[in-house]
Amino acid sequence: MNRSVALLMLCGLLLAAAAVGFLRYIEPRPTPLQGFTAPFVFGKFNVPADNPLTQEGVQLGRRLFYDKRLSGDNSVSCSTCHIQQLAFTDGKARAVGISGNPLAFNSMSLANLLWGAQRFFWDGRAATLEEQALIPIQGADEMAQDLNELIGELKADEAYPDLFRRAYGKISAENIARALASFERTLVSADSRYDQYLRGEVKLTAEEELGRKLFMAHPDVKVSLRGANCIDCHSQFLTSGFSTGFDGFSNNGLDTEEMLRPGLQLVTGQLADRGRLKAPTLRNIALTAPYMHDGRFTTLEQVLDHYNEGIRYSETLSPLIMEADNQPRDTISMRFSLNLNEEEKHAIIAFLHTLTDRRFITEEKFSNPFEAGD
Ligand code: HEC
Ligand code: HEC
Repeated sequence: MNRSVALLMLCGLLLAAAAVGFLRYIEPRPTPLQGFTAPFVFGKFNVPADNPLTQEGVQLGRRLFYDKRLSGDNSVSCSTCHIQQLAFTDGKARAVGISGNPLAFNSMSLANLLWGAQRFFWDGRAATLEEQALIPIQGADEMAQDLNELIGELKADEAYPDLFRRAYGKISAENIARALASFERTLVSADSRYDQYLRGEVKLTAEEELGRKLFMAHPDVKVSLRGANCIDCHSQFLTSGFSTGFDGFSNNGLDTEEMLRPGLQLVTGQLADRGRLKAPTLRNIALTAPYMHDGRFTTLEQVLDHYNEGIRYSETLSPLIMEADNQPRDTISMRFSLNLNEEEKHAIIAFLHTLTDRRFITEEKFSNPFEAGD
């Protein structure tokens, strides 16, 4: 081999080594998220294959969630309407963002989003958390931000370029959405008194236990089974809607035909879906007043009064609600009542209070990283 060939080979090797080093630099190597667990009673969950949970993605998502620069005038962050202490709601009947105009809807709690109806918003408009995340950012009343402008702002920041590079590679709208979705997927609430009871660590009081039984039972007069049928829609341990298709959406009798919102009909185009809204999780429900998609009820007492004696009929009213009665039903009447007594209503409210998870609302991993100084 003559010298020039050897030299050429050496140059080639050096170039290849440099290229590998360079690729390592631009090609992210994120770390799979360690220590992420979820109670097995919640059932299986899926994380999208193109957005696995990584430490870098979740950390970046947490920062973005709390960063007001995501809004047009840097005054609103996701956390403006999703406050950790309120189980990621905002305490308002209808949320208020950058424009100061109340939105059409009540802010939704962000807990256990990996399960239940994998459709987001009250009417199910968004099919994934990634898709959902970019909607409020660009909404005129929410955050009114132009995505290209936001990308420019993040590129000019001293921390973000490196955080994005390590998590996903580059700063893009898609990766902003991925990071926010990843952070939201880690918001697991599983340490309420009810969870402790399920794990055999605590006993419920007699009142809570009565409430639990009523919550879980569909009434059957023939066998003297009293029940409030809540579980028919706020299903299983998650107390949220079912995850198959659009089964997690129902018309729970809030309005008469004329007043009914389109709800799921907006997504499916089916008349049968008119007025069907997402059955939200009831976890931390004692912290997330006001209630329902428009925040019409300020207390859980009002919610129970609604289900017990305030059901309004419309064509898509859930048959589960129409059937549920603790007294023999007069089948001709279009009035629907659970016919629970006061003691039973109080017991259900006592049970709902056992769904409050103090750890969830104080967990540092979910808190504002700018205040925590992380
Ligand atoms: C101005 C208040 C406001 C801001 C800001 C806001 N949200 Fe929301 N959020 C809401 C309201 C209101 C809803 C319900 C809206 C609807 O159904 O149309 C909602 C719904 C959601 C849902 C659906 C939850 C479910 O169970 O279906 C998710 C997820 C969510 N927001 C995440 C975010 C993220 C991420 C950001 C920041 C990029 C954000 N929100 C910013 C008010 C806000
Ligand atoms: C037929 C299904 C169905 C049944 C049965 C049902 N719910 Fe609901 N629930 C829903 C739906 C759907 C919503 C959201 C409706 C809306 O806002 O338009 C909801 C909303 C709620 C809310 C407000 C949640 C929030 O975040 O604002 C509470 C509290 C609640 N239900 C408690 C109960 C209790 C307690 C029972 C049993 C007495 C019960 N539900 C029975 C479907 C149901």
